Amino acid sequence: MFPPASSLEALGQFPAALPDGPSPPEAVLDLLDRYGSPATVASNDGRYFGFVVGSTLPAALAANWLAAAWNQNAGLTVLSPVAAHLERLAIRWIRELLGLPEGADGAFVTGTSIANFVGLAAARHAVLDRVGYDVEGKGMSGSPPVTVVVGEEAHVTVVKALSMLGFGRDRVLRVPVDDQGRLRPEAIPPLKPPAIVCLQAGNVNTGAIDPMADIIPQAKEQDAWVHVDGAFGLWAAAARSRRHLIPGVELADSWATDGHKWLNVPYDSGVVLVRSPEFLTAAMSTDPAAYLATVARHEPGQFTPELSRRARGVEAWAAIASLGKSGVDAMIERCCQLAARFADRLRTSGYSILNDVTLNQVLVSFGDDPTTERVISAVQADGTCWCGGTRWHGRAAMRISVSSCATTEEDVDRSLAAILRIAGEGRAEGKPARATRRSGLQ
Ligand SMILES: Cc1ncc(COP(=O)(O)O)c(C=O)c1O
Repeated sequence: MFPPASSLEALGQFPAALPDGPSPPEAVLDLLDRYGSPATVASNDGRYFGFVVGSTLPAALAANWLAAAWNQNAGLTVLSPVAAHLERLAIRWIRELLGLPEGADGAFVTGTSIANFVGLAAARHAVLDRVGYDVEGKGMSGSPPVTVVVGEEAHVTVVKALSMLGFGRDRVLRVPVDDQGRLRPEAIPPLKPPAIVCLQAGNVNTGAIDPMADIIPQAKEQDAWVHVDGAFGLWAAAARSRRHLIPGVELADSWATDGHKWLNVPYDSGVVLVRSPEFLTAAMSTDPAAYLATVARHEPGQFTPELSRRARGVEAWAAIASLGKSGVDAMIERCCQLAARFADRLRTSGYSILNDVTLNQVLVSFGDDPTTERVISAVQADGTCWCGGTRWHGRAAMRISVSSCATTEEDVDRSLAAILRIAGEGRAEGKPARATRRSGLQ
């Protein structure tokens, strides 16, 4: 799962010196395969449960190769009509799958980190424009103060996005959460414009979703912009049997999510959507440059920080075209059911499940912290599957994330057999703890 030490050492075989002259492409590829392939993490495998990492659907992978061979610049329609067209279709399909409002529009970016940044840039524009301040023109130094609310369990990349936008990490209002990491509606103070509320769909540890239906109407009444970080949890809306976990999400103003997590498309593929796209283009469009003057307003490059970028929409389009609505539903539902299968077996084997397993995340403790850490590192060394470690409410936990289209019941059962064997051996032998790779970021 994680490459052996010998493969990591062999990375030293890549010539480090800048080559003086050309080499045949076959020789270059041979080097890549010889020393690169063995040093990869098997995160594409059905038994990789570390981080929230998807695999790749066959159609999405092949579309990615085709798009790379096309080498299209997706920033302008005049540079790639096909990339612009497929991006529009894929964005529309994702909006429909996630049950978001019809007028919402957006674009593909590298991942949810940047999707959060872009959604919050649109938020910054809108809330300051409402109080008569032109933030793109005048900058943040003279701006009226903006109240920004996040839950104490907001993902680190939301706080990073806020700091990149000049809101200041330390000025952000962090609101208490419940035992699953959900923001407590009653803990949000009264808001005065300009204000932004950041909600989360899918806590990176528990999978919990903030109570959107309670918070959003209340925030909107106070004229606040609501942004949802739904890197993976937003996809709950694409499964009929999980949609009830995320009521009211469609009431928000902007949403950030990933294709490379639960849609199982190759890296890097994030999506930003904004209810009123004019706020997005106001935040992202350039001053007219002479050589861009003939470009229409509805251009991919007017929706994202970048001008030139790869044609990410092609593989997202291919993923959804290959699965259809029912296939996406089935993929999300299967991951959730497999997570529940993990939780049930671990619980009946006497181990503590630390979260409510409603989505694709499972947190398990095998006893005291040293014991749990020992099990995690032994599972990682065993190689049947790969699970990461985290801390939840002050306790060490093994984190199992089921996000891959490749995972089957057999994968889960083989992984469970290995985990239970390792945990059982430790119980008998009382082995000491060893360092564990943590997985608190994704
Ligand atoms: C809730 C949440 N938000 C944001 C991110 C960042 O996404 P990315 O790594 O695609 O930038 C993650 C990553 O796991 C996440 O789980």
